Amino acid sequence: MAEVKVELPQGAYSIHISSGGINSVGRLIRDLGIQEKALVVSDEIVGALYGEAVIKSLQNSRFEVELICVPPGEKSKDMAVVMEIYNKAVGMGLDRRSPVIALGGGVVGDLAGFVAATYMRGVPFIQIPTTLLAMVDSSVGGKVGVNHPLGKNLIGAFYQPRLVLADLAVLDTLPARELHAGLAEIIKYGIINDTALFTYLQKNCAQLRNKDEDALTEVISRSCHIKAWVVEQDEKENHLRMILNLGHTIGHAVEGNTGYSRYRHGEAIAVGMYAVVLLSQYLGLCTVQTVEAVRELLNVFELPLTAKDCQPDQLMSFLKRDKKNIGGAINWVLVRKLGEVVITRDVPTELIQRVLCEIT
Ligand code: NAD
Ligand code: GLY
Repeated sequence: MAEVKVELPQGAYSIHISSGGINSVGRLIRDLGIQEKALVVSDEIVGALYGEAVIKSLQNSRFEVELICVPPGEKSKDMAVVMEIYNKAVGMGLDRRSPVIALGGGVVGDLAGFVAATYMRGVPFIQIPTTLLAMVDSSVGGKVGVNHPLGKNLIGAFYQPRLVLADLAVLDTLPARELHAGLAEIIKYGIINDTALFTYLQKNCAQLRNKDEDALTEVISRSCHIKAWVVEQDEKENHLRMILNLGHTIGHAVEGNTGYSRYRHGEAIAVGMYAVVLLSQYLGLCTVQTVEAVRELLNVFELPLTAKDCQPDQLMSFLKRDKKNIGGAINWVLVRKLGEVVITRDVPTELIQRVLCEIT
């Protein structure tokens, strides 16, 4: 069992990392002083696998609880689905003290978090992430939201959970492709801040691919420590938090250009990370050895380096309307060396085009 704390001015919360933790979720929520009715939001796959265990634990701690399951996948991050969940909450008579509990991957976490942030101007929010990606990234840090037809995550809020409960046992059922997509975000933490984590990933790839619990605990807790450290300093992404977007500008363009269905989020981020290390090398910021190290590690986890089904000019138009742009300029997170990145808007368009041609 490992515990990582996130300390913010409005209050601290813990990330619990253990095996079998979902069976204690009722007690852990009650220990926070939260009681009453609870709404668990999940997707149809995760709800069928783990909904009952979570409900049982909540009932054992005297919660009155209901479960709502949305279809799995990015399409559920939608205002119409938010409205269905509001309807359920109103129908149950949830009030301001009633927790909304996200049980699922990043889609469910972002969606349920948005409901928790807005229903009755905010109710307690609990995250039970069930993908590796959600454990190391989306469940921590308070970014919640849904998509707009014209862009991903365009509607949202910063709304922190009261508790994050990462139960390694649920990863048993996680498909390999989803596991690898989560490893892409862990590689990101290594590149931006932690060369020891990068080396650990290189040395323990077999253990991680086999879901060894010690190896998973190590990389999840290290990743959460980095995310907590960044969010504590810059919760609303005024500057430092941008480093967490390494690979995301091109990654989001790849996702958008392929209708959010062909690539897993982590896979698109892998393409984006490879593209920005190439860009960094062309700008003379990092060496070809750094590019090779990133390429090899992405390869080991069967992550894509290219998006051959995308067109450079289409990716460029997605880049131009990325929500992270300020005054029309793209904010780039570039790599100086493993463990060190730099944020800049000063990148020549020709170099961006060159890289987009190489990855497509
Ligand atoms: P996801 O939520 O779509 O889950 C992937 C698939 O795995 C789904 O089909 C789900 O049903 C299934 N699944 C989940 N847990 C499982 C388990 N334990 N066993 C078996 N199947 C399981 O995808 P994701 O990669 O977790 O999240 C991607 C989303 O997260 C994107 O919408 C992305 O924008 C968002 N995201 C948000 C943040 C943030 O800071 N809020 C950060 C990164 C990503
Ligand atoms: N996933 C990027 C962030 O949380 O800021």
